[in-house]
Amino acid sequence: MTGLTRSALPGAAPGTWLARWLDACADLADLRDRNPLVDAVVEEVSGRRIRVGDRWLLDFASCNYLGLDLDPEVIGAIPGYLERWGTHPSWSRMLGSPALYEQIEGRLVELLGVEDALLLPTLTHIHASVIPLLAGAGTILLDGRAHKTLYDGCVVARAHGASLLRFAHDDPDALEELLRRRSRGPLLVCMDGINSMTGNAPRLPEFAALARAYDALLYVDDAHGFGVVGERAPDETSPYGRRGNGVVRHLGESYDNVVLTAGFSKAYSSLLAFVACPSDLKHLLKVAAPPYLYSGPSPVASLASALVGLRVNAARGDRLRARIHAGTRRILDHLAGLGVATRNTSAFPIVEVPLADAGDLDRAGRFLFDHGIYVTLAFYPGVPRDEVGFRLQVTAANTAEEVDRLLAVLDELAAAIPLRSAASHPFRPPEIDLRERP
Ligand SMILES: Cc1ncc(COP(=O)(O)O)c(C=O)c1O
Repeated sequence: MTGLTRSALPGAAPGTWLARWLDACADLADLRDRNPLVDAVVEEVSGRRIRVGDRWLLDFASCNYLGLDLDPEVIGAIPGYLERWGTHPSWSRMLGSPALYEQIEGRLVELLGVEDALLLPTLTHIHASVIPLLAGAGTILLDGRAHKTLYDGCVVARAHGASLLRFAHDDPDALEELLRRRSRGPLLVCMDGINSMTGNAPRLPEFAALARAYDALLYVDDAHGFGVVGERAPDETSPYGRRGNGVVRHLGESYDNVVLTAGFSKAYSSLLAFVACPSDLKHLLKVAAPPYLYSGPSPVASLASALVGLRVNAARGDRLRARIHAGTRRILDHLAGLGVATRNTSAFPIVEVPLADAGDLDRAGRFLFDHGIYVTLAFYPGVPRDEVGFRLQVTAANTAEEVDRLLAVLDELAAAIPLRSAASHPFRPPEIDLRERP
């Protein structure tokens, strides 16, 4: 963070929360100043290749898992929707919503097997408005590695009178210890579905059982699972399961005491998100969730791409998911051959590659950029210091040849910059105990 930026913020005096936050973001500020992979201006897109300045890069940072951003059927359908509805409804949803919303919500109910669903523009809106309503003046128990937008939703709830406690990541025993303390109700447990950095599923059946036993509600953010993982079946085309209907169905769980939230902004390439819940809760949200009342809506192009995307998913989603799995499997096998540690034990398409020395991050990012590979840098505090490195993501639009090239560059990178070794520094369950931290 440069002096100029900090001095432009009157609230950033030493000792304030803002000063502490800016200090926490110092690594990112440094990368932003120096590294071409951060805050890049993308001039052109061609398939899953992008041009930054005069360099073409293979994009392994896209969350468009199903490749619908490039799908001719989706792209071809959008102009018809624009002609019929214009570019943007502009009303808040409370005033009125194009019928497309009801169509998408209806399809979601069928796909997920839930009682009802409500669409809002983003998960960020949903967490900030739904978590405070569910928590009231009760207690929120938050997974120690929950996504920042979940955390921020919990902080809003705390400002409205809820208590906030954290438990060690993916540790049902740690959660149960907190539940046993008979905290003030209502009790809300918040956690990610498929984790956006490790790529793994949570121990959802154990968490759901605890929620039911202690009369708590389990609130899950499956931004990265929806559209990628789904119900298991003998005829599935990959271990991701069928239909992409999310982590709850993938793990064979019911929605009893579970509220599932997820977005279309990853697998479905649209600015749109949903909360899947009982109809009573949906009706309550329609009068009490501020984004339903006061926020602008999703653009028509996003509503159209979600609706057509759901159609594509039904027709050929499982084939697309088989492609994603094949690409991810190759990357994981290659990393194993190189002896590199990664937290991904699931083969879902998010693969973190940690460096042996976090201080090499800028160098590693530049190396990948110079060799034509675009990734997400995994910087502190986005990940713990011992996981600093980069994140690879695989979409159905990454070709096998592009994966070949990625693997060749990973070989060169591993020879030039030490990656974290699976033999000498394997990952263990998290050691930080967040249970006592408010
Ligand atoms: C796990 C998770 N939750 C929430 C979000 C935010 O989603 P939205 O863009 O819909 O607000 C993201 C986006 O990266 C995410 O990875």
